Amino acid sequence: MKNDRFLRALARQPVDRVPVWLMRQAGRYLPEYRATRERAGSFLALAKNPEFACEVTLQPLARFPLDAAILFSDILTIPDAFGLGLHFIDGEGPRFARRIESASDVANLPEANVVEALSYVSDAVSLIRKELNDSVPLIGFSGAPWTLFCYMLEGGGSTHYHRAKRFMLDEAKAAHQLLNKLADAVIEYLIMQAKAGAQVLMLFDSWAGLLAAPHYFEFCERYLRKIVHAIKADPASANLPLIVFAKGANLHLESLSMLGCDALGLDWTVPIGEARKLTGGRVALQGNLDPAVLYAAPDQIRSEVALLLEEATTAPGHIFNLGHGMNPDMLPEHAAVVVDAVHSYSAAQRARTSLA
Ligand code: CP3
Repeated sequence: MKNDRFLRALARQPVDRVPVWLMRQAGRYLPEYRATRERAGSFLALAKNPEFACEVTLQPLARFPLDAAILFSDILTIPDAFGLGLHFIDGEGPRFARRIESASDVANLPEANVVEALSYVSDAVSLIRKELNDSVPLIGFSGAPWTLFCYMLEGGGSTHYHRAKRFMLDEAKAAHQLLNKLADAVIEYLIMQAKAGAQVLMLFDSWAGLLAAPHYFEFCERYLRKIVHAIKADPASANLPLIVFAKGANLHLESLSMLGCDALGLDWTVPIGEARKLTGGRVALQGNLDPAVLYAAPDQIRSEVALLLEEATTAPGHIFNLGHGMNPDMLPEHAAVVVDAVHSYSAAQRARTSLA
């Protein structure tokens, strides 16, 4: 690996400068992404075609000296593999043709043959690995059961996910059945990506923060644990660093740090120093600049990056990222400022510490 800073930081080893990548680094804020999506015809046509998926995965790396690549796909490929009929409505986000409405819908849900139905994802992973030619590590990913459950119950995105919560409360048994089916599919999916060449795995639990503590443990974290154990038990994936991003679950960072994963993603609402205390050095930390900082002027962006790096200190085990994804109306030039500020400030910070 020509640039192994990301892998070193995940292993909590010292680095010459802090590695950085940006959630949604390949996306609509890049004109070249919009052009490729136009050629593909739609977001799904783009994601389902390995050549297009590879092309857009590499686009942000051609612009910025990022320390990792992330597979271009979506977390909603799994509900799609369960036959819910995913499509994207322009400007409105994801929609399913069918949603889960009852316990019998769960019982009658066909088995998802992930390896077969999502073979386009493993083809994309293999192709991207080949094209990256060991320049930077490739991250494979999946949505986590609770977040996928939310989308499957609502039939798309939602503000409060009241349908999902109501089903969880009224039909706890069926909810667990569905979450178990999803966890099994996620395990199969991540192992498939590991076999295809992914070098790091990441779980996105975007809606972990919606739940009250007892529900969080019962319906969300429990399934994260099941997945982490299975990934760490399978020889194909056991040696791959695994990152868990349970957005909004900052109150549970201590518990999350004991799941057995290698790193935790952080949203921007928790100071990284506080997260370090709660996680006791058991895991690396990835994050956590407020994405809104990208709307600020370059000088302001640089000082916000410096502030975060000072809070993180030079202790090993920090991967710089945003606390959530890039938005379509952000400027690519400002993403460049973030990447450069992380590299230059953290290198200077290390030089300073070694002189002291
Ligand atoms: O980070 C990357 O560059 C890799 C690709 C990636 C996408 N989605 C591409 C995408 C990843 C890792 C995801 C994860 C994802 N998808 C999550 C978890 C992270 C998070 O944001 O919380 C979630 C919840 C989804 C579901 C999803 N997919 C939504 C809500 C939307 C609509 C968002 C919007 O802004 O319209 C998508 C579509 C999507 N996934 C886009 C991209 C680049 C935009 C679609 C387009 O090009 O039209």
